[in-house]
Amino acid sequence: MDATLTALRVNGARLRADFAALAEIGATGDGGAHRPALSEAHLEARRWFRERIAEAGLEFRADGAGNHSAFLACGPAGAPTLLLGSHLDSVPYGGRFDGPLGVLAALEILRVVQEAGISLPVHLEAIDFTDEEGTLFGELGSAALVGALTAEALREPRGGRAALETGLNRAGLTEAGVLTACRDSATLVGYLELHIEQGSRLIDAQADIGVVSGIVGMCSYRLAFVGQADHAGTTSMTDRRDAALGACAFALAARELVLRDFPDCVANVGDMHFAPGAFNIVPARVVLALEFRAPEPALFRQLENALLKQAWAEADRFGLGLEIEPLSRLDPAPESAQRVCTEAADALGLKHVSLPSGAGHDAQMLARVCPAGMIFVPSVEGASHSPREFTRWVDCVNGANVLLQAALRMALDGDPKRF
Ligand code: GLV
Ligand code: MN
Ligand code: MN
Repeated sequence: MDATLTALRVNGARLRADFAALAEIGATGDGGAHRPALSEAHLEARRWFRERIAEAGLEFRADGAGNHSAFLACGPAGAPTLLLGSHLDSVPYGGRFDGPLGVLAALEILRVVQEAGISLPVHLEAIDFTDEEGTLFGELGSAALVGALTAEALREPRGGRAALETGLNRAGLTEAGVLTACRDSATLVGYLELHIEQGSRLIDAQADIGVVSGIVGMCSYRLAFVGQADHAGTTSMTDRRDAALGACAFALAARELVLRDFPDCVANVGDMHFAPGAFNIVPARVVLALEFRAPEPALFRQLENALLKQAWAEADRFGLGLEIEPLSRLDPAPESAQRVCTEAADALGLKHVSLPSGAGHDAQMLARVCPAGMIFVPSVEGASHSPREFTRWVDCVNGANVLLQAALRMALDGDPKRF
């Protein structure tokens, strides 16, 4: 790369002003943000993003899945596009950094390249993907963009049909429209995303930057343990078919199973619903939300089998039925554009380590169709999906500069095998 390009840096003050302004939208007053996908606050954040795009003199683009982009035609006519981005939605009562940092850094990079008047062999696009966090579906916008979404999957979203329909209506989107967002992979050079680590490995290693080696596979199921409603005072303890016992025993057993046999994996029982749900009725039905994650395909399958086997064992133990509803599945994805990220961190003199991501990201969808890479910056106390989420500003700017330099390398190189 020539000296003009290697000297390019993001405008940290401008990026910070954007970050602070965006953090006000859906702010919860305790340092956090509440912007579930396609909620009023999320749509307001998207309107704000659109205004920044216009203000920068960039082209605004939106697709049928509601993905919003800034586009800079800095390549020759007909050139493919290098995508940079993340998401502006948050988990309920989450933090300010998860998602917005990557979107705003991407926008800043387009502004820097535009201001420098640089032509590249490719165009640049800063994208805000719809519903990364899975309040409604999970990586909805990126799945639509890579053609991984089906009408059938949309019928049973993990957040429920009603929530998806309400969100799409509110945003002026339709299910049929969502399915039109698929792009021809020949138009994509690659995808890069800056994100907070959401764990404490970078802090522990005293590293500035994490270059992501791969993203875990994630799978969610709804499990219903089915027993029988009975009088809680007159039915003897031995005669009960108590659905709560199966569900609670499963939650405990799942933890023990993962700790014992799957050290690099995690499982979570994130919700439980008791029916009929009264002090004096033995629970007839308990529905729980199960999610589990694994770094490699073989482990992912073994973990899934082991957890379902455990659920059957707990149901048998308490004389219960079991209903199993698979909800979503994202396979583990190795990151293919690590080299440009490593070279960029080296060029900036930043200490970097390679690490896998335990969180899901749109990059795992993009990795299906083009080279994809992720750059992590340290999360103080490893906190995330919480108002405690925090990354020092110097680290945010370092990450944005690595994203800029990695993007320039990817844009100029033209050889996906080298990314
Ligand atoms: C999204 O952040 C997830 O990993 O669930
Ligand atoms: Mn995220
Ligand atoms: Mn998240």
